[in-house]
Amino acid sequence: MRNYRLQERGEGIDRLALREDAVPQPSPYQILVRVRATSLNRRDTMILNGTYPLPPRPGVIPLSDGAGEVVAVGDAVRRFAVGDRVTGSYFARWIDGRLHPGVIDQLGCTLDGMLGEYALLDEQWAARLPDHLSWHEAATFTCAGLTAWSALTGGAEIPKPGQWVLTIGSGGVALFALQFAKLMGCRVAAVTSRGEKADRLRALGADLVIATPVTPEWGMKLREATGGIDLVVETGGPATFPQSLIASALYGRIVLLTVQDQKGRSVEIPGAVYQRSLATISRVFVGSRNGLEAMLAAVATHRLKPVIDRVFPFAEAHEAYRHFQQGDVFGKVVIDGA
Ligand SMILES: NC(=O)c1ccc[n+]([C@@H]2O[C@H](COP(=O)([O-])OP(=O)(O)OC[C@H]3O[C@@H](n4cnc5c(N)ncnc54)[C@H](OP(=O)(O)O)[C@@H]3O)[C@@H](O)[C@H]2O)c1
Repeated sequence: MRNYRLQERGEGIDRLALREDAVPQPSPYQILVRVRATSLNRRDTMILNGTYPLPPRPGVIPLSDGAGEVVAVGDAVRRFAVGDRVTGSYFARWIDGRLHPGVIDQLGCTLDGMLGEYALLDEQWAARLPDHLSWHEAATFTCAGLTAWSALTGGAEIPKPGQWVLTIGSGGVALFALQFAKLMGCRVAAVTSRGEKADRLRALGADLVIATPVTPEWGMKLREATGGIDLVVETGGPATFPQSLIASALYGRIVLLTVQDQKGRSVEIPGAVYQRSLATISRVFVGSRNGLEAMLAAVATHRLKPVIDRVFPFAEAHEAYRHFQQGDVFGKVVIDGA
C-alpha cells in the first residue's frame, strides 16, 4: 500500500515522504479501513514544523482526519463489519469523560493516521459515518468538526436559541461552529480578515459579518449590535482575543482554541477590559469518541454538509499542505484517497 510517513530528514512539508508498505492484517480487535479521503488541520502543519506540543512518533503516518470503508475485521471485532463507512477518532483512546494523560495518543501523531491507502485501527478508535456524506465530506469531521462541537456543547451550558455566537475567520473550525450554532437556533456573528468572504459566510447562515480590516475595533461594534456575544469560538488567538473580549456579554463565554499564533506570540488578557467583564475563558481540546458520535448523529439528523475549500489528488499531498499552510482558505482542505 502507498502511504506518506513523517521522516526525520528535511524541514516542514519536505518531511512528508511517500512509501510503499505491505497491507497490514487486522489482529483480533482491529479493523482495516480502505481510506477514501483525508483532510488537513492546523495541527498537521505544526507536527511537520516541529511546533506541536505532543511529539510525533518517528515515521508515523500523518493525519487524524480521514474516511473510508471497513474491508477486513479481526475475529473479536463487534462494533463494525466489512462494508461499514467509518472515520477515526482524534484521541483514539479517549472514549468519554475527561481527557487525561492515559488517553493522550492521537491519530496521525503518536499513532499511525489516515494518509495512506489503508488504515489499521482498533475498533474502539473509529465511529460510523452518516450515509448522506460523500467521502470527501466525511473526511472533514474528526478534528475541526468535533472541536467546534465541543466548543459549543462542552461547557456547563449549551448556548440557547436566540443567543449570539461569534466565529472568527473561515477555517474548518470556524465554519463548523457557524453551522452547528445555526442548528442550535443561535444567532451567529462572524468576523473575517477578507471582506470578499462575507457573502459566503452570510450564505452559510451568519446573521452579521464584519470584515476586520475595515473595522479594526470590531469588538465594540459587535457588542453594540448584539448586546454582547454569549459565546465566542476563539480560533484567532493573539490577533483577535482582545476584540473578542470586548465583544463579549458581561457573563459571556470565550472558548479559547488557539493560545499561541504561528510566530509564537501568546494570547494576553487586557486587564483594563477584563476588569469590566465577568466573562469566562475556557479551553477545549478536540473531544472524545462519544463527542464525535454525538456530533455525527446531529450531522446525520440535519443532513449537514461541511464546507470544502479544495480537493487535492493523493499524489499531491505536499501541494495540499502548502495550500492549507498559506492560510487563505474557506473551509476544509481535502486529499483524495490513494
Ligand atoms: N484546541 C483545539 O482543540 C483546537 C482544535 C482544532 C484547531 N484549533 C486551532 O483553531 C485554529 C483554527 O483552525 P482551523 O483549522 O479551523 O483553521 P486555520 O486554517 O488555522 O484558520 C484559517 C482561517 O483563519 C483566518 N485568519 C487567517 N489569518 C488571520 C488573522 N491574522 N487574524 C484572524 N484570522 C485569520 C482566515 O479566515 P479569514 O480569511 O476569513 O480571516 C483563515 O481562513 C487554529 O489555530 C488551530 O490550531 C484548536
